[in-house]
This record gives sequence, structure tokens and C-alpha cells, in this order.
Amino acid sequence: MKKIILTGDRPTGRLHVGHYVGSLKRRVELQNSGEYDDIFIMIADAQALTDNADNPEKVRQNIIEVALDYLSCGLDPAVTTMFIQSQVPQLTELTCYYMNLVTVSRLQRNPTVKSEIQMRNFEASIPVGFFTYPISQASDITAFKATTVPVGEDQLPMLEQTKEIVRKFNSVYGDTLVEPDILLPDNKACLRLPGTDGKAKMSKSLGNCIYLSDTKEEVRQKVMSMFTDPNHLRVEDPGNVDGNPVFIYLDAFCRDEHFEKYLPDYKNLDELKAHYTRGGLGDVKVKKFLNNVLQEELEPIRQRRKEFEKDIPAVYKILEEGSKKAEATAARTLADVKRAMKINYFEDTELIEMQSKKYTE
Ligand code: TRP
Repeated sequence: MKKIILTGDRPTGRLHVGHYVGSLKRRVELQNSGEYDDIFIMIADAQALTDNADNPEKVRQNIIEVALDYLSCGLDPAVTTMFIQSQVPQLTELTCYYMNLVTVSRLQRNPTVKSEIQMRNFEASIPVGFFTYPISQASDITAFKATTVPVGEDQLPMLEQTKEIVRKFNSVYGDTLVEPDILLPDNKACLRLPGTDGKAKMSKSLGNCIYLSDTKEEVRQKVMSMFTDPNHLRVEDPGNVDGNPVFIYLDAFCRDEHFEKYLPDYKNLDELKAHYTRGGLGDVKVKKFLNNVLQEELEPIRQRRKEFEKDIPAVYKILEEGSKKAEATAARTLADVKRAMKINYFEDTELIEMQSKKYTE
């Protein structure tokens, strides 16, 4: 069986280092591994509109930002198809048929949707489109017969929903769709990077994100003002590394080589953590180290972004070409789906013959 990747992001803002360690970096590695027959990366504008219906301009403006972030991380349009969700109408049509296979109560149990409803104060009036976006996400995945979906763990419920739809579809209409597997980051710290303020999630509205497109100075300032252990007041105090965002970021980003280069007094992160825990290690020193580690990772991304920013029409062209290819692929799946559901009347010669017999005999 072919190995196919599909994943994507909502274009509601520039991508940050949480997206990077949680998913983007992995996508580039998967792309470069050469193990996949096809890779589709989708800018999920239609999904972004499910909770931004009154602000289409925000979604529109951020499409190019996300595309630039993709390209600057090393996604290569010669290998990876990057496309815009709304430009592939087959996805909407699939959603319409899948809706018949999912119950309202099943949707209500989705923990990610539940917490999003709370976050957005939708309790009293949930838009139907938003409520059903897990079904539309199943269309995104199955339209490309994806086998592998590299995403963060908050997407687990969507993958479970997708698998259920696939099983249900195949059992009702015959083997047609492919059951996908989720691919989670293997480093625990990468599962969900906290905000620079220590809050559980990086979010634009909280202003606690480090963006891939931040300048060197912006990154430095954000790192130096990061939240740490609030009880670690003086250098000599023992500190706590658990739940301490500076150390979580180090868990996600630093490697032993970084110590040799920027902090040779320590061999590795375990030694640094031990010193911090014991007391006698100041936050500023750890933050300076983190800044060096982050800058090393982000500098090549910034440089590539600058190059792509010089030719924005070319970036839109990449998305246009990608969307055409994605549409052709999704159209083949939709044809399979309609054939399986027997709603392919005009190519169904048996049906036409049978009906004609009924009326002529
Ligand atoms: N839900 C994802 C997010 O919030 C975006 C997305 C839409 C997606 N369709 C997808 C991710 C299909 C993986 C597969 O970022």
C-alpha cells in the first residue's frame, strides 16, 4: 500500500515554535526521508472560518504567512504538495456524505471541540459548521487516502473520529476509504510547548508565542523575559525544573552539542537541571543558553523566509499549483465514494438498463 501523508494548519496567525517542534520539523524530516509516496500539507482556511466567520480577512491575510513559514522550514514544493483547503470543493462534498455516518452525541463527546467551545464562549450558540469540523477533517484526511497524519496530541480525537467514519463507511458501502494513523512527536516536551508566560498553550491572544518569523532581537527579548520557577528568587535558592517553561523549551530544543558550544561547564541537560534543582544556578544564565540554542535553530529559517518574501506571487503560484494537484486527487476519491454509495447514476449502465426494462417489458 502507498504511504501518504496529509496534515495541515488553520491560517489564523503566523506559526510559532510550538508548531515547529510539535509538527513542522517532523514534516520536513518525513519529507526528506524519501519514504512517502505523496505528501499533502493543507492550509485549512475553511476550518479556520468555522470559528472566524465574521473575520474572513484575518484568514485571508494569514494564508501567505503560513505558506512562508512552511517554505522557510524546508518544505519543498517539488516534493510536498501545499494547498488551500477551500480550493478543493470535493472536501466539502465528502463532508456532506460523512455527516450521515456520525451522531450528534458522538460529536458532543469530542474533548478538543469541547474545550474549544469553552475557550470561545460558544456554549450558548455553537455554529453548526464549527460543531461538525471533525467530520470535515475526516474528509481532508480520507480524500487523499492518507495513511499517516503527523499532528500534535490535541488532534487525537479528530483522528479517532476519522477512523470511525472510515470503518463505518467501509462496512456500509464496501471497502473504499483508508484508515489513517496519527504520528505524534516522539519527544514529550514537543507534545505541547507552553507559552513563554508558563500558560499551558501558546496562543496569539495571550501574546506568549515565539514566532518562526520573529527577529533575532524579538526572540532574545522573549526568552529573557520568560516565566520560570516563581519560587526561585535568588541564585542560591533551589529551583524547580518540572513545569518550568525554560527547561521544557530546552527539553524540546537542546542537544548535547549545544553545551560544548555555548555552555561547556555542563555536559548535558541533566547536569544543568541537577545544578538548578540543587541551587546556585541563576535564571539569566539558563535563559542566555536557551537563547543561543533557539537562535541556532531559527536563524536558517529566518534566512530562507527572507528569500521567499522577495517573490510573493511565486508563493501564491506554489499554492495554486498545489491546490490543482490536490483537487485532482480528491476528485478520484470522491468518484470512488460515489460509486461505493451508488450515487454514480450516469456511469451505472446496469441501473439504466434495469429501469428501462422495468418500463418497457
Ligand atoms: N485541526 C488542525 C488545526 O487546528 C488543522 C487541520 C484541518 C488538519 N484538517 C486537518 C490537521 C487534517 C491534520 C489533518 O491546526
